[in-house]
Amino acid sequence: MNGMDQKTYLQVMKPPKICWDDNADFYNMMAMMELEYTEPQLDCLDIQPTDTVLDIGCGPGRISTLAAKRARSVTSLDSAPKMLAHCAANAARMGVADKIHTVNMDWFDVKPGMDVGKHDIVIASRTEAMSDIDGITALANKYAAIVIWANAPSIPELIGVLFKGCLPEDGKPPMRPPMGRANGYNGFFNNIYNLGYDPSVKVMTDGFTKRFGGEDEAVAYLRKLQPGMPEDKLPLFAANLRTYLTRDAGGAVVFRIETRTCVIWWAPEKG
Ligand SMILES: C[S@@+](CC[C@H](N)C(=O)[O-])C[C@H]1O[C@@H](n2cnc3c(N)ncnc32)[C@H](O)[C@@H]1O
Repeated sequence: MNGMDQKTYLQVMKPPKICWDDNADFYNMMAMMELEYTEPQLDCLDIQPTDTVLDIGCGPGRISTLAAKRARSVTSLDSAPKMLAHCAANAARMGVADKIHTVNMDWFDVKPGMDVGKHDIVIASRTEAMSDIDGITALANKYAAIVIWANAPSIPELIGVLFKGCLPEDGKPPMRPPMGRANGYNGFFNNIYNLGYDPSVKVMTDGFTKRFGGEDEAVAYLRKLQPGMPEDKLPLFAANLRTYLTRDAGGAVVFRIETRTCVIWWAPEKG
């Protein structure tokens, strides 16, 4: 780990403590704009129609809902009730409610085999459970997987770009200090490898996109990402946003902002 053990690494990488329930509406908007980019992440995991999936720290169900379209069933576990409410609503809207079972628990309180049993595929995406590699692997029959940002802007940084100059100092999203390549997803890979697994890695384009009838509609919708933005900053926000708007052949306005994600997955057997 280049002189930094995994515990120290995770402490340094950890963003400021977030109250996820307070951020559930915001995160739900972001998650629903990320679905197009989530499919290639799931492609790594060879999810079959007979498979069961455990999505730890599922949030609003970005992964759970799409995995449910591929799998037999999905267990969506999260410690934040409001996140799970969004997950259930999204599952209903996307026609997969009957395949998703939500569990409101902190991962670190889960008694494996009692609270949650084994699943074919276990996914921990951008959540604290990624620090418990052996724990999440112990519940996987086929693969365990983590999804992390690939030394590229994560959601707070992207929001920082979109709302540059628009937010009061105390309303700014928490920013993670830039860590550089030495402390990127390679740290997670090394940890998984050092524990005895044989991980595969895929880095891919990630992003957030949504179509709108016009530019005004895009501004009106996307400003809701930061409800605390003062009204007089709206023109500046619209100007920031314009960089990420294009028109498609049918005349719709398309918002698209991109970054990169890394998927790491491994079979549960130690080499
Ligand atoms: C950044 S969101 C990621 C959501 C989703 N996995 C995704 O990739 O879109 C982190 C989620 O992990 C949940 N979470 C954080 N720590 C947790 C823990 N110890 N046990 C269960 N859920 C946790 C939060 O409530 C939140 O919904």
